[in-house]
Amino acid sequence: MGQFDGKVLVVSGGARGIGAAAAKEFVHRGGRAVIGDINPEIGEETAAELGRDHAVFQHLDVRDPASCQAIVDTAVSRFGAVDCLVNSAIKMAPGPLADLPLENWQTVIDVGLTGTFLMTQTVGRRLLSEGRPGSVVNLSSMAGFQPYGASGAYSTVKSAVIMLGEHFAIEWARKGIRVNSVAPGHIETPLTAYLKDPEIKQARAGVTPLGRVGQTHDVTGAILFLLSDEASYVTGAHLVVDGGVTKSIFNHFPGRKWD
Ligand SMILES: NC(=O)c1ccc[n+]([C@@H]2O[C@H](COP(=O)([O-])OP(=O)(O)OC[C@H]3O[C@@H](n4cnc5c(N)ncnc54)[C@H](O)[C@@H]3O)[C@@H](O)[C@H]2O)c1
Repeated sequence: MGQFDGKVLVVSGGARGIGAAAAKEFVHRGGRAVIGDINPEIGEETAAELGRDHAVFQHLDVRDPASCQAIVDTAVSRFGAVDCLVNSAIKMAPGPLADLPLENWQTVIDVGLTGTFLMTQTVGRRLLSEGRPGSVVNLSSMAGFQPYGASGAYSTVKSAVIMLGEHFAIEWARKGIRVNSVAPGHIETPLTAYLKDPEIKQARAGVTPLGRVGQTHDVTGAILFLLSDEASYVTGAHLVVDGGVTKSIFNHFPGRKWD
């Protein structure tokens, strides 16, 4: 018997990267997934890999409430319900804050923060209307705790996503709907294509206490734990999955060494 037998996951930004990996692992553990993404070419491929009985692609623009409703409707019509949500969609629009065009700021806020709000609200309304328990996981980032060069909008969104999740968690706790966040460090995905440069990858591994950059399976383990009943007493939490990076600042101070 699979851990997610009979469960249905909706994942935003599920065409590739961490979202796709979470959908695949959820299906491998017995569940079914609706993969939502603004990119239909890759999204269709990701769903097809899992087979039509287990996964379906639905075009999704998380900035649009009607589109968020449509993916929930698809989950219900295709697989009978929605139990779990992973909010993974993101669009980067980097640049120093002093020069950042409003349009770039708005893009990151709209996809990363408003999109997370709309998807959580839409899935939550469905669960509340049915009196059904559920579990939501938001993708934050270590950039939500540490200012990330030329990514002020992104860092702000990733910090806000944690607080947004905490709010939903407390609002819905008595209804059995849990909401948590995962904050990854540097993970190899299409978003972090710069990690294909061996020098960058090695340098990042070097400043990571666990000695390597992360892979998508490192993050999906944490996401699926939080989605699962193993985390049935966990809500309003955030789980840092960064190989120790954000706790290692003292490693970088010159002077006294212990080893
Ligand atoms: N990769 C990392 O190192 C890393 C680190 C920390 C946090 N994260 C977070 O994890 C999540 C996934 O990151 P990733 O590396 O897999 O990114 P990715 O760029 O590979 O995937 C993001 C997906 O979101 C989709 N998307 C963009 N705009 C959308 C919209 N309006 N509606 C629906 N989908 C949309 C994209 O098409 C893409 O498939 C993001 O929230 C990111 O901030 C990633």
